[in-house]
Amino acid sequence: MKRVLQRPPVGVARTAVLIAAARAQEQGHLRRLFDDPLAAGLVEAAGSASDLNGVRTLAGDHFVLRTRYFDDELLAAAKPQVVIMAAGLDTRAFRLQWPPGTTVFELDLPELVGFKEDALHDLRAQPLCERTVVPCDLRDDWATALIRAGFDPKRPTAWLLEGLFMFLPPDAGEQVMYLVSALSTRGSTLALEHVNREFRELPQMRAVHERFGTMNARWQSDVEDPVEWLGGHGWHATVTHQIDLAARHGRAVPAITDPRKVGDARIWLASAVRTA
Ligand SMILES: C[S@@+](CC[C@H](N)C(=O)[O-])C[C@H]1O[C@@H](n2cnc3c(N)ncnc32)[C@H](O)[C@@H]1O
Repeated sequence: MKRVLQRPPVGVARTAVLIAAARAQEQGHLRRLFDDPLAAGLVEAAGSASDLNGVRTLAGDHFVLRTRYFDDELLAAAKPQVVIMAAGLDTRAFRLQWPPGTTVFELDLPELVGFKEDALHDLRAQPLCERTVVPCDLRDDWATALIRAGFDPKRPTAWLLEGLFMFLPPDAGEQVMYLVSALSTRGSTLALEHVNREFRELPQMRAVHERFGTMNARWQSDVEDPVEWLGGHGWHATVTHQIDLAARHGRAVPAITDPRKVGDARIWLASAVRTA
């Protein structure tokens, strides 16, 4: 019997296609920062993301630099459980060399997860770890769904929150951080991306906000000091600047993260260890 294919993601879920398109483009780079052979097929299944090309151009290499940054953080953490919050079309479960016995949980909205599972099936993708998908809304009780799916709060965990917080209302973001912390035993790690208010208010970002607004994917929050924020939740955090990240990987600093062009506006890339 022919399977009924899920429809391509819309609304905020469609922003995942934008990131996958950046990763697919990186695949053609002579000195690529990572291998993501599934990204192009996922974008194709979603029906292309060319309407979001303007956002991708503005971001420069930011999406690929952040991908590599988080790849390195997750592999260095080497935890038995990895939770990728708002995973979108992330294919780390299929492309990173995980230590034996690693379980990767992927959380995202049910419609995105349904589409992704269909597309991965068609691409005959095989995970390189135990992989469990958890369809849920991160504004609701996702913690119960995660535990029901086999997550064990007593085991050390590496959490990834990439490209999520800006899309959540402030109270929902705070609740996510509260629950992540409550589910994390000492020594767990966390890596996240967020932005500060100056970044949200950059004139260069106006067109992005307009585009995302028409997609029902409005940015709703920011954080001034991620180290302090995470410290308040029991994490010891450090921030990596895109200047250092770009230098590490032999790339130009993306203009949108270059202090000479954007002043104090920041896209935060932070990594943390659970100390409480
Ligand atoms: C910019 S994409 C990032 C995807 C992925 N982390 C990456 O970097 O490739 C944002 C993701 O957040 C997800 N998302 C936004 N709001 C959500 C919510 N309330 N619950 C679950 N997922 C959500 C979207 O579906 C989308 O996949």
